Amino acid sequence: MLKETYKAEIDDILSRYPIRRSAVLPLLYLAQKEEGYVSEAAMKEIAGILRLTPPQVYEVVTFYTMFQLKPIAAFHIQVCKSLMCALVGSDTLLRWLKIRLGIGPGETTADKRFTISTVECLASCGTGPMMQVNDDYYEGLTESKLDRILADLKRDGTSPLKSGPFMLPEPMKG
Ligand code: FES
Repeated sequence: MLKETYKAEIDDILSRYPIRRSAVLPLLYLAQKEEGYVSEAAMKEIAGILRLTPPQVYEVVTFYTMFQLKPIAAFHIQVCKSLMCALVGSDTLLRWLKIRLGIGPGETTADKRFTISTVECLASCGTGPMMQVNDDYYEGLTESKLDRILADLKRDGTSPLKSGPFMLPEPMKG
C-alpha cells in the first residue's frame, strides 16, 4: 500500500497541489518508483486518495509514455521517433540498438536488463538523435557514444555521458 510506505511523501505532495486531482502525476511516479510499473492496485489506491475514479487514473497512465502498465527491464530505453529526431537518425539509433541488444521496440532482453520503446518528442529536439534511459537523457548520439553508454550501464548502472534527468515540473505558485 502506497499510503503505508509513503505517507510523508504523499502528504507533502498533496500539500503542494491546491486542486487535489492535480497531484495525479507525482503520485503515479511514486507508484512506479515502488513497483517499477503502475499496477491496477496502485491506480485504485491513487484514485481513492485523489477522489477520482480508477478509469480516470487509468486514462492518465495510458496517455503518458513514461508510465508502464506492466513490469519492464531494469533499463528502459525510450527512443524519440518524432520528426526532428527522425531527420537526424532515430531509425539508425534503433538499428544500432537492435544489433547490440538483439531487441526492437516493445521488446525486452532475455536477461531482463533492457526494454526498448519508441516515444514521441521528449523536448530535446535540437540534440537528436536522443534517448531517455530511465530518468536520464542521452543526446547527440553516435554509434561510439551508444557503445560507451551501454557498456557503462551494464557495468555501473549509469553513465557519465548522460545530459541530465527528466524533471517533473513543479506546480505553479500563487
Ligand atoms: S523530436 Fe526528438 S526530442 Fe523532439
